[in-house]
Amino acid sequence: MEAAEERVELELVCPACWSSLEATAGGGRRCASCGASYPRRAEVEVLLDDETWRATVAHAEHERETLRRYHVSRRESPLNILYYDGWVARMFRHVPEANRGPLVEIMCGEAEICRRLPQRFRSALALDLNPTMVEQAARDLEQAGETRVRLVCASATQIPLADQSAGVVMVQGGLHHVKPLLAQVVAEVGRILRPGGIFVASEPANDHWLTRRIRHWQYRRSRQQGTDPGEDGLTQHELDAALSAAGLRLDRYRRFGFIAFPFMGNTQLFPLLATCRWRALGRALIALDRVFEHIPLVRGMALTSLLTALKER
Ligand SMILES: C[S@@+](CC[C@H](N)C(=O)[O-])C[C@H]1O[C@@H](n2cnc3c(N)ncnc32)[C@H](O)[C@@H]1O
Ligand SMILES: [Zn+2]
Repeated sequence: MEAAEERVELELVCPACWSSLEATAGGGRRCASCGASYPRRAEVEVLLDDETWRATVAHAEHERETLRRYHVSRRESPLNILYYDGWVARMFRHVPEANRGPLVEIMCGEAEICRRLPQRFRSALALDLNPTMVEQAARDLEQAGETRVRLVCASATQIPLADQSAGVVMVQGGLHHVKPLLAQVVAEVGRILRPGGIFVASEPANDHWLTRRIRHWQYRRSRQQGTDPGEDGLTQHELDAALSAAGLRLDRYRRFGFIAFPFMGNTQLFPLLATCRWRALGRALIALDRVFEHIPLVRGMALTSLLTALKER
């Protein structure tokens, strides 16, 4: 019974009223209940209302150059790829073996998590507002023969999934981009998670004054930086408050990322690192970060947090 359940693909529903969607002749979708229509607008399905779609396209155009740099560093810089491999693997280590999804990656960008989906997951949905990034991820995953992941253009504030349909929800570096909407996004996570499900999030940490200073310096220099609000990151308190309000219990909150994170996670800032193929250097920086994590006075100054939150049964 459980094995059969695991194989069921996540069914997309109307993001306005959570009712079933019907296919339309033009390749789009229409809500049978509220009548909302979601025409075919991109290579992937777009489940956004007209106004959000227009704003999304304008925002993506405004950030085109930023996104191009993001794409190059994520897909071509060996040290950046090595760092993300380790980071995503670290996030997955917090998902109990028995939990096999379905998995939902919100604010996925080019789907850094779903590109590295462990074998035990049979189906996943990755969503982001930005159609260009989602299309890129869809093309890459198709080329890689990855058939378990479905990619859609949708908002994390109105996830097109039914209540209690996901076993795992993950997000990497997305929540701080929607700081004013944090409560709404986390409420959506709470809604779609099944009882016993887990939320794993990794975000820039904002708990220490030195961390804030370093990040401001980094953002001033970054040509990859976008224009979203809330780039300061999030504190444990801010995250905990949003989780409790959404019926999720913060289980773990750990900070990490001291030297490897700013250098390897942002190779576009450092021309020598951007093309460096010396993976041993990357591994050494990551090992150094691990040491710092265990030094109590230093630990608090980490640049990133990783949290897990549980939906009680
Ligand atoms: C810094 S990127 C992180 C992308 C990816 N998770 C990663 O680690 O590379 C933040 C992403 O959030 C997306 N985003 C912003 N607001 C959103 C919303 N309301 N719903 C879905 N995605 C959103 C942006 O389009 C962008 O791709
Ligand atoms: Zn509807």
